[in-house]
Formats: sequence, structure tokens, C-alpha cells
Amino acid sequence: MKRYLDHNATCPPVREALDAMLQAASEASGNPSSLHWAGRAARRVVDDAREALARYVDCESGSVVFTSGGTESNNIAIHSVLSTCKPGRIVTTAIEHPAVLKPLQQFVAEQPADAGWELIQVRPDQSGVVSADQMIRSVSDDTRLVCMMLVNNESGAVQPVQPVAAHCRERGVPMLVDAVQALGKGDVHFRHLDVDFMSLSGHKIGGPKGVGALLVRRGVRLHELTPGGGQERGRRSGTENVPAIAGFAAALGVIDFAAQAPVRDAFEQQLKTEIPEAEIIAEDALRTANTSLVVLPGMDGETMLMQLDLDGFAVASGSACSSGKREASHVLLAMGIPDMRARSSIRVSFGPTSSMDDAQALVAALVSVRRRLKGMAGLAA
Ligand SMILES: Cc1ncc(COP(=O)(O)O)c(C=O)c1O
Repeated sequence: MKRYLDHNATCPPVREALDAMLQAASEASGNPSSLHWAGRAARRVVDDAREALARYVDCESGSVVFTSGGTESNNIAIHSVLSTCKPGRIVTTAIEHPAVLKPLQQFVAEQPADAGWELIQVRPDQSGVVSADQMIRSVSDDTRLVCMMLVNNESGAVQPVQPVAAHCRERGVPMLVDAVQALGKGDVHFRHLDVDFMSLSGHKIGGPKGVGALLVRRGVRLHELTPGGGQERGRRSGTENVPAIAGFAAALGVIDFAAQAPVRDAFEQQLKTEIPEAEIIAEDALRTANTSLVVLPGMDGETMLMQLDLDGFAVASGSACSSGKREASHVLLAMGIPDMRARSSIRVSFGPTSSMDDAQALVAALVSVRRRLKGMAGLAA
């Protein structure tokens, strides 16, 4: 039996999204930039989706720039700010997704060492939450950009973005909020946060892959990453992916991730009963209801993932592949978890099709994998 428990990686498209995509692809197949009837029909689909997204995240429809996903949204915002400002400080957290960390690190690495750029990566506490105070204290007079995620993709820990956003607003410092893992799982209010930029992605909420949005505060100029035909009001060139945009809008609000709390909690409860040394990461933090990041000491995360895969479970391991070698999760390392423990983690992220039976079966599978692995290592189970 196949059990998909990796919804933070991607959430299979919901029926509403598939229907909307098919309809847009077949009935609105013109180019939205064309002035004739076929173009106007496609334009209508894009405009309706823009309105729907704007309503859902509480922003003006003019703030919505459709992109190919969270990675592109983050890159556009970062490039737009950093390519046009004087050298100075960039403040972010040590637990951002690589779609934020990599462009920032790469940008700074490419500047002359004496140019005056500095990248501050604020570490979280032991529960996986970055202190708002520490972020605020890191914002200096010469800070050019602040980047902070709303929800961490590995632990599900909600980050205190609001006070940091208020401080940045007061100081006139541009701020990018990566809300990719927050959409559909908690409150995402662009107007309320009052930041310059916010990144969103379609496939984390049951929409299609390869579509997302960058929300841009009114009056903030966006410098294009890939200049071209001037679509999206000159802010993101390239013919719009009309079916994907329609699917993204149709998926908004369909999945109630909060409803996964009983399944996630049952999984963690049973896991701790069966494997008492299991550690639930960010257990004491405010977390999204579908996410469970667990450390099982002595068990390699990747091996667990592969063994579970053989049993039909799809989960994620807390390690990432970088330059061909496996590295422990930068999120866990930033939390102060030792390398060996960090490598012994798996992330389970439940979704709309997950059941109590999945939770129970996964615990049973983990117990059996643990027995097998310990047996192979010649240790008593
Ligand atoms: C927090 C966060 N930001 C950005 C991304 C990248 O989004 P996309 O896959 O749409 O490029 C992800 C994807 O996992 C994410 O979890």
C-alpha cells in the first residue's frame, strides 16, 4: 500500500485545481497578451486568478505578480533590491530555504571583499524559532534587505515575522517574507504584515507545480530578473502559464491543513511510546499542524527514508544533497543539534488524504525498520 506523507515537499493537486487547469487549457488557450477574443479569454482567466489570490491573502490585485514558484519569487525580490542599492548589510535567518539563502550567499560571494557587503544569518533557539528581538537588533542603519520565512519547511515552526516587519517598515528597510510553507496552513495577510515582498507557491497547497506569486507592495519598483516581453506589468516577462495560474487560484482554501493536527499528534504520541528516545523537533514551538520532524538517534535519515520507501511510505529525510555529498539539515544544525543527530532525522508532513491508520502504520514501520537496522549493526533491538 502506498502512503504519501511528504506534503511539505509537494501536495498532490486537488480535483478543483485539475478541473480548472483542464478548463483553462482547453477553453482559454490564447496568449493573454493577444488583443483578440482568444487572448482576451486567457487574460480573463489570469485576471480572475489574480483577484482570487489577492482576496485570499488580503492584498491589492495589483500587488500580485505570477511567477514559476517560490524559488523564482524569492530570487526576483532579492535581485530587485540588491542590484539597485548601495553596499550594506543583509539580515536573514539561518533556517531559510535554499531559495533564499543561496541567492543571498551567492550575491555576497560575487562582490569584491572590500565592497562593504555583510550577510547576517540569525540562528534560531533550540525550539527552531528565530528571536524577533535578535532580528531587530541585527537591523543596522545600513541594512539594505531583511529576509525571513513565515513557517519553516522542515520543522513547521512559525516564525515571529510581524514585529520584525513592523520594525523594518518604521526604518524603511525592504523586507521579503517567504510565506511558501505558511499558505493554507495559517494566517497569511499581506496587508497586515505590510512588507515589501512576499513569496508564495502553488504546489504546496494542492495547486500545480511550477507556478507561484510574488506579492509586491504598491509603489515598490520591481527590477526584472529576466527582461523580455514585459508581461505582469513589466515585472515578470514571459508568457503566463495560464492553466497553472488557474489551477493555483482554484486550489486556494481547498485543503484544511489544520485538520491534520489529530493525525500528526497521534503519530508523535505513539512514536514516543514505541521509541522513547525519539525526539520531536520544535515540539514546544507553535507549529503548523501537519508537520512532524523527528530525530531517531542512531538511525541514518536517508537509510530510514529508503527502508520506508520499500514499505510504501513517502517521507523526507532531514539531509540535503550538496555537491554530491549528503549533508545534515542546515536547519537542525542551526538549532544546535549535533551533526550525527541531525543526520538521524525524518520529516513527515501529513495532508488531506492522511488518516489515523497512516500514523499508526508509519510508527509500526519505523519500529520494524529500527529493529532491522539495529539487527544489521549487530545490536540488540
Ligand atoms: C519555505 C520555502 N520557500 C521556497 C520554496 C521553493 O518553492 P518552489 O518549489 O515553488 O520553487 C520552498 C519549497 O519547498 C519552501 O519550502
